[in-house]
Amino acid sequence: MNPHDDDNAIAARLREAAGPAPMPDAALRARFAARLRDVTAHPETVPIQFDGRKIEARRGGTLLGAALKSRTRLMHLCGARALCATCRVKVTAGEENLAPMSLKERLSLRYHLSFGSRTRLACQARVQGPVEVESVFPLCGDVPD
Ligand code: FES
Repeated sequence: MNPHDDDNAIAARLREAAGPAPMPDAALRARFAARLRDVTAHPETVPIQFDGRKIEARRGGTLLGAALKSRTRLMHLCGARALCATCRVKVTAGEENLAPMSLKERLSLRYHLSFGSRTRLACQARVQGPVEVESVFPLCGDVPD
């Protein structure tokens, strides 16, 4: 057995892998085009109102993420792990534009004796459309520059 056979086989596979990428098939291109149309039809950011402040949230992102990005200092002691419930917010409008509550969020709210259907954890509630919320705990001020 020639010890260079393995080297030649590896080199051939490397050349094959480094070659031009195959063109995606028609079905893949159609799926990509449909996804692109869907993304452009639904803007990536949605307006939300947080304690009366108009801010923007990334579609699919959390309320906490939107608040922090807009320099609103909402408490989140557990680091968005659905444990502390200090990020609790009361939804005043657009409740249907938040993703349904997960079991983790439901259990955390129940543990912290928050049974109201409009109370959500900002770290878990994902934004899908315009929504208005008020923080349950006082904000800690604005994030300094
Ligand atoms: S940050 Fe702790 S539950 Fe949301």
